[in-house]
Amino acid sequence: MAPTDATVSRTSTSGVLAETGIDPALDLFEEIDRLRKEKNAVILAHYYQDGEIQDIADFVGDSLQLSQSAADTTADRIVFAGVHFMAETAKILNPDKPVLVPDMEAGCSLADGCPGPAFGKWLRNYPDHVVISYINCSAEVKALSDLICTSSNAHKIVGSVPADKKIVFAPDRHLGRYLIDKLGRDMVLWPGTCQVHEIFSEKKIVQLKTRHPNAKVIAHPECERSVLRIADHVGSTSSLLSFTASDPSDEFIVATEPGIIHQMEKLSPNKTFIPAPARGACEACNECPHMKLNTLEKLYLCLRDDRPELFVPEELLDRARLPIERMLELSR
Ligand code: 13P
Ligand code: SF4
Repeated sequence: MAPTDATVSRTSTSGVLAETGIDPALDLFEEIDRLRKEKNAVILAHYYQDGEIQDIADFVGDSLQLSQSAADTTADRIVFAGVHFMAETAKILNPDKPVLVPDMEAGCSLADGCPGPAFGKWLRNYPDHVVISYINCSAEVKALSDLICTSSNAHKIVGSVPADKKIVFAPDRHLGRYLIDKLGRDMVLWPGTCQVHEIFSEKKIVQLKTRHPNAKVIAHPECERSVLRIADHVGSTSSLLSFTASDPSDEFIVATEPGIIHQMEKLSPNKTFIPAPARGACEACNECPHMKLNTLEKLYLCLRDDRPELFVPEELLDRARLPIERMLELSR
């Protein structure tokens, strides 16, 4: 989704700029726009980024749409406002282009919870299985996989494996369990979870529903089975977004990272979006701490200084690209 000038919000404060050593007189939106044109850079942003980053990006999307954009781009460099595995995927698809990330520390609990060496060792237990990995994993894990999927195309990718073949699915056990339930296809699951999506509380969502009886519950398949069971719609971020636009309901309880609500409100300004509550007393635990490391200031610095730049070890590039390309081909 490309922004228009009218949709760009200007919310930077001079205080924030001073802390980063950036001249507070600078208009960051103008500077980012000038630099991206000067350097022929494309800015890709995930739906979980802050609204101001989504507004300045050339393209905002879910993991699949962002990898498709990265595969198709004619820009000289890619600035990826998302997390490490997303930028790494863009680099694997564009080995000759610089891929820059506003904050290189922006990781992912699913990717971090499935280290390549441990995954390789575990796979030795399943020699005759097809290995499908969710895109939220490292290049090392991708290189050990036969197919990559995202939450948008997981049904299709799993369905593409002949019925007589056994499947290993990694690293998200909740998405894996959801697919087993949906497709009736058994799979061996790596025991990984997303620290954000597993925190939503079924009990609190049900309580919230009593105060908003007409609200529809929408959930990302990384949520626990108990939350998915009470959801009116389950899908990837782009699927949740289009559901809120097309469904006649006026209110939605959103069980995914609340960054997506920015686009939901833009598409449906007259509807109400309520972030699903987390377990315990923590108010902000449903925000992805990795995604939120990226800021407009870091985006500007990264475009200005051409760093931090992401590199993928040469020996992994070709092996990791193969299962991603299979996914892109199957998703056409
Ligand atoms: P989507 O591909 O649905 O955008 O999900 C990405 C993600 O990291 C969810 O936590
Ligand atoms: Fe990873 Fe969860 Fe953050 Fe998505 S929301 S990037 S799966 S930690």
